[in-house]
Amino acid sequence: MTSPSASPLTVLGLETSCDETAASVVRLGAGGRSQVLSSVVASQIAQHAPFGGVVPEVAARAHVELIEPVAREALQQASLSLSQIDGVAATAGPGLIGAVMVGLSFGKGLALAAGKPLVAVNHLEGHAVSARLEADLPYPFLLLLVSGGHCQLLAMAGVGQLTRLGSTMDDAAGEAFDKIAKSLGLPYPGGPALERLAEGGDWERFPLPRALVGQRGCNFSFSGLKTAAARLAEGLTAEADRRDLAAAVQAAIARQLADRSEHAMQLYAAQHPPQHRRFVVAGGVAANRAVRARLEGGAVANGFSFAAPALKYCTDNAAMIALAGAERLAVGLVDGLDAVARPRWPLDEAAALANPVHVPGRKGAKA
Ligand code: KG4
Ligand code: ZN
Repeated sequence: MTSPSASPLTVLGLETSCDETAASVVRLGAGGRSQVLSSVVASQIAQHAPFGGVVPEVAARAHVELIEPVAREALQQASLSLSQIDGVAATAGPGLIGAVMVGLSFGKGLALAAGKPLVAVNHLEGHAVSARLEADLPYPFLLLLVSGGHCQLLAMAGVGQLTRLGSTMDDAAGEAFDKIAKSLGLPYPGGPALERLAEGGDWERFPLPRALVGQRGCNFSFSGLKTAAARLAEGLTAEADRRDLAAAVQAAIARQLADRSEHAMQLYAAQHPPQHRRFVVAGGVAANRAVRARLEGGAVANGFSFAAPALKYCTDNAAMIALAGAERLAVGLVDGLDAVARPRWPLDEAAALANPVHVPGRKGAKA
């Protein structure tokens, strides 16, 4: 879908849903092509690492300290003042409620002070549009959203129009990476550390459960894999053994993601003409090279084009929030200053109510 707005829209995006304080300025051209004028991400990883995970109160306090300088830096890098932007987009959920409230309240303040419209953005919609940043990726597309708190297959027809095809029945893929990494003694965040450990490992040495692979439907399950991997990890001390297990875990996660996605492609292809058959992966786990490669192979084999965000836009950032906000602004979707922060906010609310399959173990810590 292209922007019906006649002139470009420049939006300041703010992201504070978990452990990254981020701000970005994105310009959405009249043709629907976006340009990232700045993208500043202040990671709090060092503050949370001693605890082995994100501590909500620590995150909220850090956002309070960082959001103003980070937003100022984003405007400065874009060489723009607040008066020169067309709107403020802030993540309004899902995420850690205290953390979300910091960015949303700050965004409301800026919007009010500058007399600009506010767009309250669903963080997941941000991930959903992230592959459209500086890329020519039109709607509609089939989307695999794989982050620390979510693992879903969705059909995205246009701005804010998402239909869920499947979801995880237990852990999210990123959560599985993080928990298994922890049982291998790797530091937080586990996904990237596990990917590094897996390099050169023999992925065929340890047999792991093939949950749901080859079965009907588009749902996911990672709990069996998590338990099996944790059991195998016990007592493994040699670096070569740990490397082989990491490689096996990564391959098993990639295999399940690809298998479920290929089922979704077949369902999607039955309803969409060949020129609309586009497959997109987004979210932190999309940064994993083995996952990306496996998904790309599956897409090509099923007659789908393949797209993924640039690596810096896979994990949490504010450019994706600014773009989601700009796309909403372009079609007149704005929010009032009474917009609320939401710890939970499914993308496809109707499907989530009718069939609440996703009961995540880590409630709202990572969205
Ligand atoms: O999208 P994101 O930054 O935050 C959420 O919204 O959840 O995703 C973070 C998740 C974490 O679970 C992290 O371990 C995982 O993405 N992740 C990775 C990689 N980079 C980040 N998992 C596997 N391999 C990676 N290279
Ligand atoms: Zn995220």
